[in-house]
Amino acid sequence: MQKMNIPGPKAKKILEQDSKYVSPSYPRAHPLVMSHGKGSEIWDVDGNRFLDFASGIAVIGTGHAHPKVVKAIQDQAEKFLHISSDFYHSTWADLSQKLSEIAPFSEEAGIFLSNSGAECVEAAVKLARYHTGRSQFIAFLGGFHGRTMGALSFTASKSIYRSGFFPSMPGVYHAPYPDTYRPLLASRPGEDYGEVVVRYIEEEILGRLVPPEDVAGILVEPVQGEGGYIVPPPGFFPALRDLCDRHGILLIDDEVQAGMGRTGKMWAIEHFGVEPDIVTSAKGIASGVPLGATIARKSMMTWPEGAHGNTYGGNPLACASALATIDLLQEEFIQNAAEVGEYTKDALEEIQARHKSIGQVRGLGLMIGVDFVKDQASRMPAKTFRNRVEEHCFEHGLVTLGCGKSTVRFAPPLSISETEVDEGLQIFEHAITLTEKE
Ligand SMILES: Cc1ncc(COP(=O)(O)O)c(C=O)c1O
Repeated sequence: MQKMNIPGPKAKKILEQDSKYVSPSYPRAHPLVMSHGKGSEIWDVDGNRFLDFASGIAVIGTGHAHPKVVKAIQDQAEKFLHISSDFYHSTWADLSQKLSEIAPFSEEAGIFLSNSGAECVEAAVKLARYHTGRSQFIAFLGGFHGRTMGALSFTASKSIYRSGFFPSMPGVYHAPYPDTYRPLLASRPGEDYGEVVVRYIEEEILGRLVPPEDVAGILVEPVQGEGGYIVPPPGFFPALRDLCDRHGILLIDDEVQAGMGRTGKMWAIEHFGVEPDIVTSAKGIASGVPLGATIARKSMMTWPEGAHGNTYGGNPLACASALATIDLLQEEFIQNAAEVGEYTKDALEEIQARHKSIGQVRGLGLMIGVDFVKDQASRMPAKTFRNRVEEHCFEHGLVTLGCGKSTVRFAPPLSISETEVDEGLQIFEHAITLTEKE
């Protein structure tokens, strides 16, 4: 297998220019300077080809430059690019109707559109406060909800995100996420670990720290993303829904990373048989055009005119792209994510059987994490090992991203084929073998 010489001469020039002017706060994964992409493939400015198993952080669900998405954006661009949320247009109304139709609850929905994941979380938090008249929230350790000041107060995946930015928004209490591979809490015999976590929230957080009648909402990822692609056990969401119902707390389902078909269903929460009250969506919703959506039960959209807004809400390019994206997801790519996801997980489990460095393969659909460990008995995270595997992958033409302490995430376009998965996994296994030899 051929190792590439990256960055090449053209990329080096751009990296130099970038390092002079672009904010140094961005965490860069690899020196990949993109030229163009098609489906699951990317080419850099020096002509190197990569398979993309990262999708621009789980954004490009329909693959790079899908012709139907490009055409929808082009058609809209010829008509108008912007009018602002002070006015109306049909693409915005169409997308809002579509999101209401596909929302993962039986009631009709009200939709607030913004430009990113963090912004749709901000809107959800403000709406929950407004609607309930309560001020406090519960979130989860390992969770990621964005980096704006409100969203950052919920994010608890790495302390670097908070360093230098205190004080955060008061009134956010964090519980352990139900990670059955590395549980933080002790279970009683026979108890589902998800129920253990909900019992902790009820007895320790609501019992000792904040009375339930002051809690507006619980913000939770249906599958934890940045925290390590962690799938909760089956008992978690039903118990959490029940807790919310008993105390009038809103269940806010952050689908920014796990949603829009990635797990093999439109919404990841659909795997767990409960209906949330508010859903946040971004990333995969518009195939790369910035868009965030806060989707709430209509009965909860009680805020009046002027309570929340923005300049770009309902941006026509983003709405056109989202409508084309949702059509493609419904027509073929959600199904593909479910099928190729199963295929990928099986193949990764075969690789795991050959490599003791892999502790766990976990995930739903095409949201799969491979967790590297120092040894399988202790399950100690092997962070440096994981980082080297990623570097080797990149040098051999496979783009991946890490998540959690020691996990490589597999988040390819939902349009990926089994042949492309095979090609990527060959590189992945080669990268593991190289790292094991070091
Ligand atoms: C679950 C979740 N929520 C919110 C966000 C924030 O999204 P953005 O980076 O678009 O602000 C992310 C980003 O990774 C995320 O994974």
